[in-house]
Amino acid sequence: MEFSIKQGSPEKLKSDCVVVGVFEGGKLSRAAQTLDKACKNILSDLVAHGDMSGKSASTLLLHKLPGILAPRVLLVGLGKADGQTCKSRIEILHALFKTLHGTPAKDAVLYLAEEEMGQDTAWVLRQAVFIGTEHAFRADGLKSKPADAAKLKHITFATLDKPAAQLKEVVAQTAAGTRGMELTKTLANLPGNICTPTYLAAQALALGKAHKKIKTTVLEEKDMRKLGMGAFLAVTRGSEQPAKLITLEYNGTDKKHKPVVLVGKGITFDSGGISLKPGAEMDEMKYDMCGAASVLGTIQAIAEMGLKINVVGVIPSSENLPSGTATKPGDIVTSMSGQSIEILNTDAEGRLVLCDALTYSAKFKPDTVIDIATLTGACVIALGHVASGLFSNDSNLARELLAAGEQTHDRAWQLPLWEDYQPLLDSNFADMQNIGGRAGGTITAACFLSRFTKDYHWAHLDIAGTAWKSGKEKGATGRPLPLLTQYLINRANSK
Ligand code: BES
Ligand code: MN
Ligand code: ZN
Repeated sequence: MEFSIKQGSPEKLKSDCVVVGVFEGGKLSRAAQTLDKACKNILSDLVAHGDMSGKSASTLLLHKLPGILAPRVLLVGLGKADGQTCKSRIEILHALFKTLHGTPAKDAVLYLAEEEMGQDTAWVLRQAVFIGTEHAFRADGLKSKPADAAKLKHITFATLDKPAAQLKEVVAQTAAGTRGMELTKTLANLPGNICTPTYLAAQALALGKAHKKIKTTVLEEKDMRKLGMGAFLAVTRGSEQPAKLITLEYNGTDKKHKPVVLVGKGITFDSGGISLKPGAEMDEMKYDMCGAASVLGTIQAIAEMGLKINVVGVIPSSENLPSGTATKPGDIVTSMSGQSIEILNTDAEGRLVLCDALTYSAKFKPDTVIDIATLTGACVIALGHVASGLFSNDSNLARELLAAGEQTHDRAWQLPLWEDYQPLLDSNFADMQNIGGRAGGTITAACFLSRFTKDYHWAHLDIAGTAWKSGKEKGATGRPLPLLTQYLINRANSK
């Protein structure tokens, strides 16, 4: 879908549908008042007769109003002007796009960027772009008869007054973000028999081909052996599919600027290995590569935006399966950092692939490293499906990531990395063990990673609860791509 923003009068704009808001109590927005005048008070009449109450997220679709060029007018309830919240604004946008996508309209003009949805217009526009494309997203590519593509192709955000110049960039950048997000979601939804480490590597190579500024490299298991990646290799031992260590270097600015490295967990199927998971919902462990998918989508998005910043994606990818050659509980391996690890539970495999990828990341002389991982079920218990778990060894970095999450409503919540938790990883036989017990499981996982990230500013995002939805709505969400891209946009703007 395409998005643009421009100034115009709602009765004169050529479009399949014009969307204007009505506040609860019946007050028409300024754009609605203009339409009302053009069609000789039909709208105020409807409101007076109670056909449109302005209740938040209600809609009323009207056809062929006299004096209005567009064949459809969609009225959308905005609720009480002083009673709107982030949640209610998002509900309004969902209701609006659900109705719009239900019409044959190929394009629409939306008046939402002035008094309609409060002060932070950039926030509203970002949400509108994300939600508009979410409603057009299809996950049925593997059905024999996929549904038709969405008819709605172009959204114009219109304003009565001249829109602020930076809003144009907000719309364009968010639209690029949604195209990256589509890649993230499509890859994440693919089943484990299609989306293998080799498949992810091919996708990364294709990104390198498509964008001049992206250079992709793929390391094989023999290369990892040379590098001493005993932790990563321990995870792939039970699998027939070769593991891959994928790196994508996006050079958006002078080499002298140290890069941000994004490390994405790329377990294309996590059965738990010898510490086998229970059968129920095990299929959802195809989503254990959502961190990797968000890195690929983010790098595609920033390349399309042409952000003036250097970013490296590092993706350790493998399967985690049981077999006669698989790693066993109690096995001890040596990581690339030289630290030895007693693997007490082969299902705590994410931290094993990540620790070697984090050590490897130092090679890029990074300013900042952020890892993104569906790391712990405990994070879902702690934060549910609303916030991603955030850890950092640097309070500025944590603050910037939290802020980017608020700006895009792709929020994270910080958890402690206090030293007091570290002894839970003590082992009698190795430098550490790979699990810390049930208590504080998300924190001990982050503590494990922190032992490999001492040389740079580092943050860890646990996206176990936010990367996909279960049940009837099963599907990838594309998170935390909005947070990551916004963080990189902010960084590029501040330098
Ligand atoms: N990929 C899982 C984490 C996960 C589980 C994410 C369920 C989303 C839903 C990870 O590899 C894992 O299995 N973690 C274990 C760690 C435990 C053995 C310490 C977990 O969370 O149970
Ligand atoms: Mn696991
Ligand atoms: Zn896992």
